[in-house]
Amino acid sequence: MHELTYSTSDEFSLDSLLFHVVGVGKVSSSFARNLARKCPLVRFGYVVSRDIDKSRSLAHELGAEPKSYNDEFVLEGVVLFGYSDSVLVDAPKIVGEKIGSDVIAVHFSGFHPSTIFPKSWNPVSIHPNCAVASYDFDFTRKVFGIEGSEKGLKIAKLLLEKLDAQYFEIRTDAKKIYHLAAVLTSNFPVAFLYLARKLYRELGIDETLIRHILHSLLGSVASNVFEKELQEALTGPVKRGDWEVVEEEGKIFCEHFPEYATIYDTTVLVLKSLLDESRKDLER
Ligand SMILES: NC(=O)c1ccc[n+]([C@@H]2O[C@H](COP(=O)([O-])OP(=O)(O)OC[C@H]3O[C@@H](n4cnc5c(N)ncnc54)[C@H](OP(=O)(O)O)[C@@H]3O)[C@@H](O)[C@H]2O)c1
Repeated sequence: MHELTYSTSDEFSLDSLLFHVVGVGKVSSSFARNLARKCPLVRFGYVVSRDIDKSRSLAHELGAEPKSYNDEFVLEGVVLFGYSDSVLVDAPKIVGEKIGSDVIAVHFSGFHPSTIFPKSWNPVSIHPNCAVASYDFDFTRKVFGIEGSEKGLKIAKLLLEKLDAQYFEIRTDAKKIYHLAAVLTSNFPVAFLYLARKLYRELGIDETLIRHILHSLLGSVASNVFEKELQEALTGPVKRGDWEVVEEEGKIFCEHFPEYATIYDTTVLVLKSLLDESRKDLER
């Protein structure tokens, strides 16, 4: 059973560690900015980017030194890797020779385990369960899935407590399944929003209003999901058993999106399965 955790032993002091950012991405920049704000005594060493202007701008804010990969430097302390998933696996090749003898290497991937980094880097993965679409996203109270080496995990827990975030530990060998669940939750609904937007546009509704409508609908679903069981959070024709509506809208869906025709019926099937399963649970 995984539990959300807020506090652990304060064995390390963050103020005694040096932090580096390698790869100025949305998550690494946001994480470093959150850290700088919540722990003003934390010291940053280097900000490393392929683009020296990006390094300079973040380094200036953090009181760090900007670096590009051609510069001479050694990373000792906590290294926050902001690389995208496809690049993370090449981290030892890209920056391996600049990694010192006493590091804790943090990455933010939900898909890759910490073990894609060498053991000697004391790796840990800290995966934020949120859609980080800016370079200064607020991680307060957000839920992170973490796994990694003993030393890495200690630092990860301490960091997340300082950021007022929540975390739970996941099995290293279960990262891919764990990440699929996150993708289904946060990415796949956007596919349906895209189709819905096409329909709203066809009706001549203006872009600002469309955004408000999408936000109003999705926001209320998100709140209901937090407050209720999933089957109670569900509303709409399938939940009410309005099968004529389901059928007629299915035809309209196929007329508008013939290339995706099968997802309508499949989605209805999934929703029915949710309702059937919860009914059976109640009868037990
Ligand atoms: N965004 C989210 O919602 C989210 C949520 C949870 C987890 N994550 C995870 O967080 C990690 C970073 O995601 P992100 O959204 O922050 O990515 P991002 O904004 O696209 O940043 C990725 C960074 O990787 C560096 N990079 C890319 N290609 C490179 C190459 N060939 N060589 C060296 N560096 C390269 C770049 O840094 P420079 O330009 O500075 O070189 C780039 O800014 C990923 O593992 C992702 O799965 C993201």
